[in-house]
Amino acid sequence: MSRLEIVLATTNTHKIAEISRFLAPTGHVFRPIGEFPGYIDPEENGETFEANARLKADAAARFTGLEAIADDSGLVVAALGGEPGVQSARWAGPGATQSMLIDKMIARMRGQADRRAYFVTVLVLRRAPGDYLMAEGRVEGQIIDAPRGAMGFGYDPLFVPSGHSKTFAELTLDEKNALSHRTRALAAMLRLMGR
Ligand code: IMP
Repeated sequence: MSRLEIVLATTNTHKIAEISRFLAPTGHVFRPIGEFPGYIDPEENGETFEANARLKADAAARFTGLEAIADDSGLVVAALGGEPGVQSARWAGPGATQSMLIDKMIARMRGQADRRAYFVTVLVLRRAPGDYLMAEGRVEGQIIDAPRGAMGFGYDPLFVPSGHSKTFAELTLDEKNALSHRTRALAAMLRLMGR
């Protein structure tokens, strides 16, 4: 496969570092969308993770003329009928802080016997108009009733991955990355890209 320039349709520095490091073996050059002045993020109004990843990849590819990779992720809680799901970032209203999201989750899960949940990431690589590769990664676990830990972000302090006793927020970044939904999606994408 020849060496390509691929735009990363995210301005999240953590995601940029993780994606470009993980996909480095492909030999392609990954350029964050922030290197392209004037780009405006599209509204994430899709009903699925895949739809949102695809619309971010489409927007970045159209703007730059390059291949584009985008991701969308969130937390899916069984007892809440799959909420917050694609609404994970906005579940407690626009601009909600991490503690607002955590407080809402604690309140909604109070008294729930079924604590099952999973984090999911969907990655979409747009190679050409209408030509996409899609990869998904999940990590199953449980929602606990009070937050623990100060690392990570989002819902990490309430999520204990299956087979572990610590929350994601009590794990180091390397420990979390070893089992995270995002890492699993990246590994699947790497296989699809032929490496
Ligand atoms: P994004 O679309 O990947 O930026 O993620 C959407 C939202 O899902 C984030 O704002 C978080 O609230 C939540 N989320 C996604 N991944 C994680 C994670 O690894 N830990 C905690 N929360 C996450």
